[in-house]
Amino acid sequence: MSNFNPTNYKQNSKANWNIIAPQYHNNWASDHIGPFRSTFEVVRQARIEPSDRVLDLACGTGALSKQVRPKLGEEGTLVCVDFSRTALNIARHSVNSPMANFFEMDAENIGFRLSFDKILCQYALMFFPDAGRVLKSAKSMLGRCGRIVVAVHGKAEEVPYFSAIMEPVLRYIPDIRPQGAPNVHRFGNPEDLQNELCKAGFSDIKIHGHVFEYDAGSFEDYWTDYLKSTAYSISSKITGSEHASEIKKKSEENVSAYVKRGRIVFPWKVLIGTAS
Ligand SMILES: C[S@@+](CC[C@H](N)C(=O)[O-])C[C@H]1O[C@@H](n2cnc3c(N)ncnc32)[C@H](O)[C@@H]1O
Repeated sequence: MSNFNPTNYKQNSKANWNIIAPQYHNNWASDHIGPFRSTFEVVRQARIEPSDRVLDLACGTGALSKQVRPKLGEEGTLVCVDFSRTALNIARHSVNSPMANFFEMDAENIGFRLSFDKILCQYALMFFPDAGRVLKSAKSMLGRCGRIVVAVHGKAEEVPYFSAIMEPVLRYIPDIRPQGAPNVHRFGNPEDLQNELCKAGFSDIKIHGHVFEYDAGSFEDYWTDYLKSTAYSISSKITGSEHASEIKKKSEENVSAYVKRGRIVFPWKVLIGTAS
């Protein structure tokens, strides 16, 4: 039985992003660290034309929009939507263009009916409890020859940055997240991403896999940073658990396969889906 409440989940997620957005921007998104190399591929796959109307859905701190902006001419439009005000403020400064419009909105309830030529969504689809609803609304906002490009993380075993710590966390604290809560690997299987896009009415769907590398430093760097950023919302449950030391020990064992000259270098599989 699922004890997942989408409204509570979104309220907590929004509060969490309002706290971690600056760190997320500085440590990852702004410098295209590790999986964020995908930003260039997403923008390339979008085939932006100068006159395009572009929607960056769950734009976060603006990593994609910053790359899209120079590709647009004066007649182009850039609309950025996210539910985290802190992330949007960073995006506004980072994109730094009067052409870009920023809206604080829930992607599951977009409050406008504009038409776009391109809709981009990087590392967010898996966080939407009703991802199908978001994709259907994206489909309804795409013009006749419009194109959507979506980037998601791969399966747990293909993204050990997440799973090396989460595997023992879930073993020792199985109820750390409500049952049925969205999982970061939710669309990591290409068929699942393909089906979700197909169910929303998209056609000409193509899914490409890319493997990036992420240098996480020493195990202590990785552990500390993971708890402070990626797992911020559950970090006190992990460190306060009676199993905290076993979780840490098992996490260190899990990363040993990725240690090169004293540093953890993780492979990081990303799927990029395109459709029209
Ligand atoms: C991993 S970040 C990705 C941000 C950005 N697309 C990038 O590539 O850096 C996920 C973003 O999704 C946003 N988000 C999650 N759920 C959302 C929702 N229901 N509506 C709007 N934004 C949402 C978060 O606030 C966060 O900025």
